[in-house]
Amino acid sequence: MELETYLKKAADEVNSLLQELYGEPKTPLSRAANHLLFAGGKRLRPALCKLAADAVLPGSSHKIMSAALALEVTHNFTLIHDDIMDKDEYRRGQKTVHTLWGEPVAILAGDVLFSRAFYLISRSNAPDYAKVRAIELLSKTCEDICEGQQLDMSFEDREDVTRHEYFHMVTLKTGVLYGASAGMGALLAGCSEEQFQELYQYGSQIGAAFQIQDDLIDLLASSDKSGKDQASDIREGKQTLVAITARERGIDLRPWRRPLSTDDISALITLLNEKGVISAVQEDATSLIHSAVERLSVLADTPEKNLLADLAWYFIRRDY
Ligand code: IPE
Ligand code: IPE
Ligand code: MG
Ligand code: MG
Ligand code: MG
Repeated sequence: MELETYLKKAADEVNSLLQELYGEPKTPLSRAANHLLFAGGKRLRPALCKLAADAVLPGSSHKIMSAALALEVTHNFTLIHDDIMDKDEYRRGQKTVHTLWGEPVAILAGDVLFSRAFYLISRSNAPDYAKVRAIELLSKTCEDICEGQQLDMSFEDREDVTRHEYFHMVTLKTGVLYGASAGMGALLAGCSEEQFQELYQYGSQIGAAFQIQDDLIDLLASSDKSGKDQASDIREGKQTLVAITARERGIDLRPWRRPLSTDDISALITLLNEKGVISAVQEDATSLIHSAVERLSVLADTPEKNLLADLAWYFIRRDY
């Protein structure tokens, strides 16, 4: 099957399961928690969890869909809180939760989704010892994401962030949730320890590359295309790989740290292209994908293994 077809089917399945479980919110807080959850989204983390399960034990993923949903609700929890931190007004083409309901409700809406994640893992159809390990994995992952988000914010006050620090930060804030998605699908399907370790690393590496691509999309994609505020990273002084590479090539982004018009953004894109910043960043993301795909050699040859490789390349090809 083509990757795009697979992803579309997986997203449809995730959407209908979420609808069954949470489609009729009964309180104002659960309505706020559902706003982002039902606003669209690519549903890539549950798709990865499904693929990993089926790559380990063909046909097994239907039993663990509840755990796959846990990864999506965790992701949505982090997005609601991230939009508060990043002062963003749009996400998935809709107003952000804190813009509509205020920050206190948005904090609680995120907490509601965080709690649902652990409930969903406990409800999946797998041996108890595997579910305990999955819960342990998600718990560690959420702490890592918080550490990554903290680093992301603390870097806003620094102009000397190294590439090494950047890769560490994005592995935490974005990579590990993809690592957990691949790792959890594999664990619940009964993988070996070696398969778990390699799939976790594969997921974290493609996740770090996913974040690099997100840094490019932030700058290059219109709000209509991405559904998010354009150039929010530049406005907030984020130390993205674009910013670090620009600094290495003598471009000071500090004067651009302000609300930017579409003309400002176009001028900046032209400048960064002239200095080769965009293509250098794309090359860094490509190396990560090469290294991640090699790790798939722990899997037997199946259609799902091929889709896992295709997914890795899609992460740096996508334009929203
Ligand atoms: C956005 O994630 C946040 C990042 C980790 C870069 P996605 O690009 O997966 O967002 P949705 O779920 O499709 O909206
Ligand atoms: C971090 O990255 C996303 C999370 C870990 C929640 P960004 O702040 O770049 O994500 P977007 O661009 O707002 O989706
Ligand atoms: Mg953000
Ligand atoms: Mg952020
Ligand atoms: Mg971003």
